[in-house]
Amino acid sequence: MAAGNPQNTCGICTDRASPDSRDTVSMATVTYQGLEVLFSRQQIAERVAEMGAQITKDLNGEKLVMIGVLKGAAPFLADLSRTIQVDATFDFVATTSYGKGLRSSGAVKLIKDLDHSIEGKNVLVVEDILDTGLTLSYLRKLFLQQHPKSLRIATLLDKPSRRIEKIDADYVGFSIPNLFVIGYGMDYAERYRNLPDICVMPPDQQ
Ligand code: IMP
Repeated sequence: MAAGNPQNTCGICTDRASPDSRDTVSMATVTYQGLEVLFSRQQIAERVAEMGAQITKDLNGEKLVMIGVLKGAAPFLADLSRTIQVDATFDFVATTSYGKGLRSSGAVKLIKDLDHSIEGKNVLVVEDILDTGLTLSYLRKLFLQQHPKSLRIATLLDKPSRRIEKIDADYVGFSIPNLFVIGYGMDYAERYRNLPDICVMPPDQQ
């Protein structure tokens, strides 16, 4: 919930004070059951619309296949797709995730493959958060084997300080410091994915 916004459609966020700052991000002191909101639904919607406009421009009228990385990217893909003004289809993959822990084990395994070939297609891989880069490096390599016409990556969040594999996204919503975040698709032990805002998971609750 953005500071000063009286709307609280889900009734779970409480606006308390003016924004504060932490590294590259603005940290609003807003709570959901004691969790700080890092990006409100309004900030997310505005940034997603900007990303969609840029992607539309870059596609220059060409068709697109959007590939969502389950499960975390589902809300982002749903919102982003509706801001992209070209003929687009969806496909989804799933990889091993954080499960009950917080950090990648290092091994990425494909749990669900694409339903359709992407050969000769313009592909946009849609991810919730680019952290160590292991997942997207693995997926990029895998998808390139099918010789798409183009392959770009859109991530809502980027934690560059955590990178192990050298990979950058073509479209980044917000760059954040090394915080563990939840909400808007992102989980902690499968919980919190349905929070409409992106919140910070405090270390003492992890
Ligand atoms: P990577 O392979 O380390 O880049 O991790 C990518 C995946 O890790 C993301 O798709 C998320 O599922 C998960 N992840 C990384 N950081 C966070 C976080 O702060 N909150 C929730 N999930 C995260």
